[in-house]
Formats: sequence, C-alpha cells, structure tokens
Amino acid sequence: MPFLKSIRFDWKKAKGRDAFPFNIPALRGLKEIELSCDVTFLVGENGSGKSTLLEAVAAKCGFTSMGGGRSTLLNTDIQEPTLEDIITLSWLPKVKTGFFLRAETFFDFASYIDRLAKEGPPMDAYRPYGGKSLHQQSHGEAFLSLFLNRFNDKGIYLLDEPEAALSPQRQLAFLGVINQLAASGKAQFIIATHSPILLAYPEAVIYNFDETPMGTIEYENTDHFFITRQFLNDRESFFKELFNGEENWRL
Ligand SMILES: Nc1ncnc2c1ncn2[C@@H]1O[C@H](COP(=O)(O)OP(=O)(O)OP(=O)(O)O)[C@@H](O)[C@H]1O
Ligand SMILES: [Mg+2]
Repeated sequence: MPFLKSIRFDWKKAKGRDAFPFNIPALRGLKEIELSCDVTFLVGENGSGKSTLLEAVAAKCGFTSMGGGRSTLLNTDIQEPTLEDIITLSWLPKVKTGFFLRAETFFDFASYIDRLAKEGPPMDAYRPYGGKSLHQQSHGEAFLSLFLNRFNDKGIYLLDEPEAALSPQRQLAFLGVINQLAASGKAQFIIATHSPILLAYPEAVIYNFDETPMGTIEYENTDHFFITRQFLNDRESFFKELFNGEENWRL
C-alpha cells in the first residue's frame, strides 16, 4: 500500500496563474492526485509538466535534488510562490526516508558521494553504492548499484526518467527491483518516464499529462506504447511519412 496517499492543490494560494508553474495545463484547476498504487507513472509530451510536479513533491518531502542542481539554484534566486507552496501531501503513515533522482544531476550526486568518501572512511560512503565510486561505474551500472544497494529503507522514491541510464535489458532488471521493493511493502515509487518498457509495469497507475487536467490512462492507450508498437511493426511506413514530410510529428 502506498504511504503517500494523495497530493492536494490549493489554487487560492497560487499567484499569477498565467505564469509558470501555475499555468501548466495538466495541473491547472486540479484538486487532487490520488496515489492508490505502490507505483505511479507520470507520462506526457516533453514540456507537459512532469518534472515540475516531481520537483514540487520532492521539495515538500524535504528531499534535495541529489548533490544540488537546478532546483537548489532556482530556489535561492526566486522568491515567487512555487508549486510546492500550494500542494499538501497526505501520508499514512508519514515516511521520511526516500530519494529524489533527477537523471541530469546523477553526475553531481556521484561527485557528492566521492566528497563524503574523502571526508570520512571511504567504505562508509561507498557501501550503499556497491562499494566503489559511482564515477568508476558506467552510467547504467552506477544507477543499478544505487537501486540494489541503497533502496532498502522504507521510503518514497521520486524518479525522473530513470531509463536515461539503462539499456533495455537493464530496464527489465530495474522492473524486477521495483517489484521486489514494492512487494516488500517498503517502497513507493513515483516515476516520470518516456520508456514503454518501464510503463508496462503491471498494477501501476499511469497519469497522462497530455490531458487538461490530467487523468489516468491505460498502458495500451499511451503514445509510448502505441507509437513504439507501430514503429517496431512497420518502421518502413514511418520513414516514408517522416522523410517525405507527409506527417507532421507535432514538433
Ligand atoms: N523555471 C522555469 N521557468 C519557466 N518555465 C519553466 C521552468 N521550468 C520549466 N518550465 C516550463 O514548464 C513546462 C513544463 O516543464 P517540465 O520540465 O516540467 O516538463 P516535463 O514534462 O518534465 O518534460 P520532459 O519530458 O521534456 O522532461 C515547460 O514548458 C517548460 O518550458
Ligand atoms: Mg522532465
């Protein structure tokens, strides 16, 4: 059962509703996002607001983006109300441990662990990450080390495009890790993804940010599933349309 049961929005607190982040169509006017499963996916086009929501939830949980990064920089500069200021998280029970992973700050995080290793006994710093510096492991290896070694507390894991590091085979391995952690009753995941492999995780709820306001969608109805399947079944037709300019791919 998920620990974080819902995310509620209080739009009365929002100022400047025509400006970022309050103008994101998927979120505008939304009262509540219910989280009824251990695994929730956020899908939608580039720029539809998935990272913005994840960042707000992470901030509310008190997680910094690992090793610093965009939000830390932004938060010191900007005094405007953010999405974090208008959301309320409902927990049962309240869980304090967890993790916010942004694909683009994974490198900073690896450096942060190296700094900790220099300051104290190195093994204390590296033990949760497979016993060696994350910089000495490939992107995908480091990422799976993180999951296999670090994610064993009861916690909530907010992951932004974890597939960025993972080969298709490792994405499957990662589904196994999610399943193990979710089945142990110790973990809840909220994952923004574009991966048709990750999205296929059974018994997950998928929220579609291409709707206004967003709602749930079945796996088979997502663009990710549909386009990937069509493409793999008949890529020649795609190329004909793409290269002859017959289809406008909404770019
Ligand atoms: N700090 C900011 N100031 C103004 N606009 C922003 C800021 N950060 C993001 N945006 C805009 O908000 C929208 C949502 O961005 P967000 O990063 O949440 O999208 P996303 O769904 O995560 O996309 P992607 O799939 O490409 O990662 C985009 O149009 C983006 O340009
Ligand atoms: Mg994003």
